[in-house]
Amino acid sequence: MAEVMGRLEDKVAVVTGAAHGLGRATALRLAQEGAKLVLGDIEAEALAATAAEIAALGRPVETVVGDLTEPAGAEALIGAAMAAFGQIDGLVNNLGGARNAKIWEMSVEDWDFTLRLNLRGTFLCTRHALPHMMARRQGRIVCLSSGAREGTPWTAHDTGGAAYSASKAAVHGFIRDVAIEVAAHNITVNAVAPGPIDTDRTGPGLLKLEETSELGPIRLTPLGRLGQPEEVANAILFLLSDEASYISGHTLAVTGGR
Ligand SMILES: NC(=O)c1ccc[n+]([C@@H]2O[C@H](COP(=O)([O-])OP(=O)(O)OC[C@H]3O[C@@H](n4cnc5c(N)ncnc54)[C@H](O)[C@@H]3O)[C@@H](O)[C@H]2O)c1
Repeated sequence: MAEVMGRLEDKVAVVTGAAHGLGRATALRLAQEGAKLVLGDIEAEALAATAAEIAALGRPVETVVGDLTEPAGAEALIGAAMAAFGQIDGLVNNLGGARNAKIWEMSVEDWDFTLRLNLRGTFLCTRHALPHMMARRQGRIVCLSSGAREGTPWTAHDTGGAAYSASKAAVHGFIRDVAIEVAAHNITVNAVAPGPIDTDRTGPGLLKLEETSELGPIRLTPLGRLGQPEEVANAILFLLSDEASYISGHTLAVTGGR
């Protein structure tokens, strides 16, 4: 009987921000498809919990705890992947988040924090992974943008979210150019742009907004519900898989139709 192969059988995938939310769901989804995982996060305990779930699936997994917005953290993550597995097939730049405020009240610290969190780790991990991918003429990079790249009415109306939206639009610009830079090396670079997703941390706030705001996220989403983390993980899986071999420089919306 033919052996059933996963879509990422024995591919090595690095996932940043894998302790919680979409990073965790993505790491698990990639492991289910046969990938070997290298996971980075700043939260040691929760990262170990994600890794334990992957080990329970019988897949090899390495973890690196550190601040991935710092060069040393990004270098350690990519270095750990090369030391453990000798290659990197896929990089998921998932790390991100926001400190929100109305723009006329936003502190410079919160503005810098948000841009740094969404952009510096993405830049640094991409920068350090690419030479290894280029050497093998093979690689897939997927970055987390957001539906916020075109603005997010519920966040804007409630707390203000311009720094976050600006940073996620920047992720789209980043993948457009890097895709061209590395095309000659047979590497693809794409983004996924999730809409409102029911993660442990974000979901409760989104549901509360649905009750309190006239611009509720569910009301403004044609499919009429929050997305599930696995629905984002499936899009990331697709862009990492052989099925997406002719797709590069694209931001795939996973926004329930918005
Ligand atoms: N949840 C949503 O609705 C949603 C929607 C659109 C886009 N996104 C994007 O998806 C990505 C994941 O979002 P999430 O909701 O799962 O977030 P989350 O906060 O649940 O997870 C982010 C992870 O990054 C880690 N992290 C934070 N700072 C770090 C640092 N300096 N170094 C290393 N690790 C660090 C956290 O510990 C956490 O595990 C982000 O880029 C986010 O902007 C999320």
